[in-house]
Amino acid sequence: MNAKNTIEVEIYIGYSLLSTALALPDDGKVIAMDIHRKNFELGYPSMEQAGVAQKIDFREGPGLDTSDALLLEEKNHGFFDFIFVDADKDNYVNYHERLMKLIKVGGMIGYDNTLWNGAVGAADDEVLPKYVRYYKEYVCNINNVLASDPRIEISQVPVSNGTALCRIIM
Ligand SMILES: C[S@@+](CC[C@H](N)C(=O)[O-])C[C@H]1O[C@@H](n2cnc3c(N)ncnc32)[C@H](O)[C@@H]1O
Repeated sequence: MNAKNTIEVEIYIGYSLLSTALALPDDGKVIAMDIHRKNFELGYPSMEQAGVAQKIDFREGPGLDTSDALLLEEKNHGFFDFIFVDADKDNYVNYHERLMKLIKVGGMIGYDNTLWNGAVGAADDEVLPKYVRYYKEYVCNINNVLASDPRIEISQVPVSNGTALCRIIM
C-alpha cells in the first residue's frame, strides 16, 4: 500500500513493529507506543541489525495518552497511512475514535486478536479461561463498532487469533 507514515500501538518483542519498519521506504517513519520502555529495548537490537532503527520513533506511555498528544497537533490529522493496534483490548473502542482522526482516507487500521481465542463465538455460559472471559466483551464490542462504522470497510482475517483490517473510505 506504499505506506510511509505509520503507528504501532504496542511493541513487546517488536515482531510486528519490525515487519512494519521493514515494509517502509528509507524515509518512512513508524511511531511506536508502549507503556514499558523495556519492551522497546528488548527488540531494539533486532531493529538495528535489520537496518531500520532510524525509522522508529518510540513514545513511552499509555497508548491513549500518546494518541491524544498526537491529536493536539493539527498536522497529524489524516496524516498516517497505516496503524496497527495490539495493546490494551479493553480500550480498542476508545482507540478507534482517536485513530480515525489520525489515519488518512485510503489508509488502513489493523486491530489484532479480534477472534479472541474463538471466544467471540462462545455462548455466554461457556467455560473460558479467566482472562479470555474478561476481555471477551471488549473484543465483541470493538467488532460490533467496526461492523457498524460506515467510514470503513472491514475484513476479518481468520489467521491465528484474528486481525480486523479496516480500510478507511471516508
Ligand atoms: C501482545 S503485546 C504486543 C506484541 C507485538 N505485536 C509483537 O509483535 O511483539 C502487547 C503490548 O502492548 C503493551 N501495552 C499494554 N497496554 C498498553 C497501553 N495502555 N498503552 C501502550 N501499550 C500497552 C504491552 O506493554 C505489550 O508490549
